[in-house]
Amino acid sequence: MIQEFKKIKNVKGELSLPGDKSISHRSVIFSSLAKGTSRITNLLESDDVISTINCFRNLGCEIHKEGTEYLVNGKGYKGFSKPENDLDAGNSGTTARLISGVLAAQDFVSNLVGDESLSKRPMNRIAKPLSLMGAKIKLSDQGTLPAYFQPSDKLKNINYELEVASAQVKSALLLSAIHIDQKSTIIEKSITRDHTERMLGCETQFDNGRKIITASKKNYPNAQEYLIPSDISTAAFFIVLALLAENSELLLKNVSLNPTRTGFLEVLKKMGANITFENEKKVSGEELGDIVVKSSSLKNIAINPELIPNIIDEIPILSVAGLFAKGAFVIKNAAELRVKESDRIKSLVYNYQQLGVEVEEFEDGLKISGEIKK
Ligand code: S3P
Repeated sequence: MIQEFKKIKNVKGELSLPGDKSISHRSVIFSSLAKGTSRITNLLESDDVISTINCFRNLGCEIHKEGTEYLVNGKGYKGFSKPENDLDAGNSGTTARLISGVLAAQDFVSNLVGDESLSKRPMNRIAKPLSLMGAKIKLSDQGTLPAYFQPSDKLKNINYELEVASAQVKSALLLSAIHIDQKSTIIEKSITRDHTERMLGCETQFDNGRKIITASKKNYPNAQEYLIPSDISTAAFFIVLALLAENSELLLKNVSLNPTRTGFLEVLKKMGANITFENEKKVSGEELGDIVVKSSSLKNIAINPELIPNIIDEIPILSVAGLFAKGAFVIKNAAELRVKESDRIKSLVYNYQQLGVEVEEFEDGLKISGEIKK
């Protein structure tokens, strides 16, 4: 079928987008761990977050919607019951990795499964450090789901430097660490999204560019109210649209502006994007504000490798901005893109080739010719 596309101009207006995915998962998990009722406003009702909700229902938590809010009746320290069925993380890597940290610390067996795509994604990155804490986890021979958890005799604290720059791995370890009296320290060489350590109130220090996060049972969460800002990763698509379309001005309300998530705004601004913030504030420990985006002419820049974990989810849409910017768009040091829900490097390369764009594929990124005529 030949589809005719009309050029978009005049992207104007105001948008309120759904809640942030990372903070939504964490709000459900921490509320389920806490004893008593927590209230969550603006929870993202996506399949992935529903998978997290269903896993915790399967562990005995009562979670229901009241008006526009979610109420979670958490079970408290080691209050979960042995699940009747397999825990199904569906397509959600965040559910699978984060809940592993919780399951490793329980006194019952459980089996964690996922859909076809999730069952191909690496779980060793979680199982290996959790095993160092004494967890008993059996993965498939390929190091993937299903993951079978057995009670450990006693989990012990850990001092561990992350081998992959992954907030999911860090969070899994912190979730086990909050079940242990002694302090654990998790060290990051590359800074990843920091919602878990913020929301659990973990102590953090910086040493020569490395981040040291400390957690123990003292950080076990209490029941509370969560207000979730709009998802900056969703906003990214509308931001690039407004930048590229002529005569445009878009206002995105109450978007998460956590500095570990706004790397792609930094990159776009350096590329010449007209992006400003209004009404900046901090709610439930997270920065948020309104983003104003206006049509801009862009030029490609060298992207700092340290920023890659911060922009990992936005690289595909950032490459679209790069396609219309002066010079070539180059991404390197982003091999993690190959182990997401799909191999995102392969998909980008294939689709750009279909569109006749000059593209070079690297193991850890890609290069595309920019300056495509709009
Ligand atoms: C997430 C962390 C990132 C990100 C994912 C959500 C999280 O994954 O790509 O969409 O909420 O912790 P990695 O930790 O595997 O990089």
